[in-house]
Amino acid sequence: MTNETAPKTARLSLGDQEIELPVMVGAEGEMAIDIRKLRAQTGAVTFDPGLGNTGACTSNITFLDGEKGILRHAGYPIEELANQSSFLEVMWLLLHQELPLKTELDSFTHDITHHTMMHEDLKRLFASLPKAGHPMAVCAAAVGALSTFYQKEGPKTPEQNWIDAIRLLAKMPTIAAYCYKHSIGQPLMYPRNDLSYAANLLYMMFGTPCEAYEPNPVTARALDLLLILHADHEQNCSTSTVRTVGSSGANLFSSVSAGISALWGPLHGGANQAVIEMLMSIRDGERSAREFMELAKQKDSGVRLMGFGHRVYKNYDPRAKILKSACDDVLGQLGKRDPLLDIAQELEQIALEDSYFVERKLYPNVDFYSGIIYKALGIPTDMFTVFFAIGRMPGWISQWLEFQADPDKRITRPRQIYTGATPRSYQKVEGR
Ligand code: CMC
Repeated sequence: MTNETAPKTARLSLGDQEIELPVMVGAEGEMAIDIRKLRAQTGAVTFDPGLGNTGACTSNITFLDGEKGILRHAGYPIEELANQSSFLEVMWLLLHQELPLKTELDSFTHDITHHTMMHEDLKRLFASLPKAGHPMAVCAAAVGALSTFYQKEGPKTPEQNWIDAIRLLAKMPTIAAYCYKHSIGQPLMYPRNDLSYAANLLYMMFGTPCEAYEPNPVTARALDLLLILHADHEQNCSTSTVRTVGSSGANLFSSVSAGISALWGPLHGGANQAVIEMLMSIRDGERSAREFMELAKQKDSGVRLMGFGHRVYKNYDPRAKILKSACDDVLGQLGKRDPLLDIAQELEQIALEDSYFVERKLYPNVDFYSGIIYKALGIPTDMFTVFFAIGRMPGWISQWLEFQADPDKRITRPRQIYTGATPRSYQKVEGR
């Protein structure tokens, strides 16, 4: 559909009222009915729980076509970025919607590399939290706490927001590694600015002050690929949360902290941890793959095939396709075998031949194979979602900055359909 071929308006007939609503067409031909004046004109609102039919913003950052399994950032296919780009370059692409010139990338890399250290006082926050606390909770707390170090009365200028963006991108690996080191009682490692983004993250995770640690380049490249694949995914639950919190005028750190909390849930980013736990339970003989799949089809079992299904993709998630083949490559290069990969492939095969999954168009999503790679890289299971958060950081920040600059921005404040009691009179407790 193009602006020329698309209908200009949609007609809505509501009782004896007839109104015309403008039609919008996106750059890739997707149509939307602009209902901004609907309530004023008719008194009615729309009803769309989960917002599956609602466009909440316009955006230049990411396009995805769920029917065709397409994901592009500012026009660049995810497959090309995964093969040829780096996480830092993708960060820039999301922030500016253009690939950087060499000089721009060099200066951006310099800036990100030189904001990696955290304020010493923030260490006390980690020390005050239980070691067994989930790292996603610790991570959300630490990112939220950054607001207290970089605060300012009133709204920040775009320049100040940009510096906050650099700080957050640069410090996120340090925060993530601190979450892990705190949980295992090891000393927190200062960043090494001579290493790449991914290699420095591995160094802070696995290095100790007692001996030299050089990150394996194969591991660092695999990690960089994982981060690229998670970098943005338009208006998913956590990104919508970041925009929503930002819509109230909250600062970048607070908005992103809320996004981290949204990501933690098992239906969103927490699925990567849940997938590995599911595969382990099958490996450990709790039930066979086939028995598990039967259970996943029963609604009242409370069991879902984790890492499968997607609100938007009704086809193979292109990120899952890349990760599936990366699993073989990375395990091969690291000389590892993992029976969990065989179980994952068996589950996928069963799903692809089972009418329940076929009819509902349920395919592997990004979380289905990513955990197997994280595991091969030595990342502990409960850190998987934190690594997703490191990857998603440029997406959250780009979307937050885009929202701030949007002339159509308004505080997010949906309506509801009230279904509770109608007016009644208060009675004192003695008389109830
Ligand atoms: N296992 C079994 N049944 C499923 C699954 C699954 N993984 N996913 C969806 N279904 C069924 C669901 O029961 C429903 O059946 P019916 O039409 O008979 O009621 C139908 O498929 C549609 O599902 P839905 O829950 O209405 O779809 P949704 O768009 O609201 O939810 C989802 C999308 C991703 C939350 C869901 O597919 C799911 O729970 N998947 C497992 C968790 C997961 O892997 N999450 C990661 C998502 S991708 C990366 C990310 O966002 O972090």
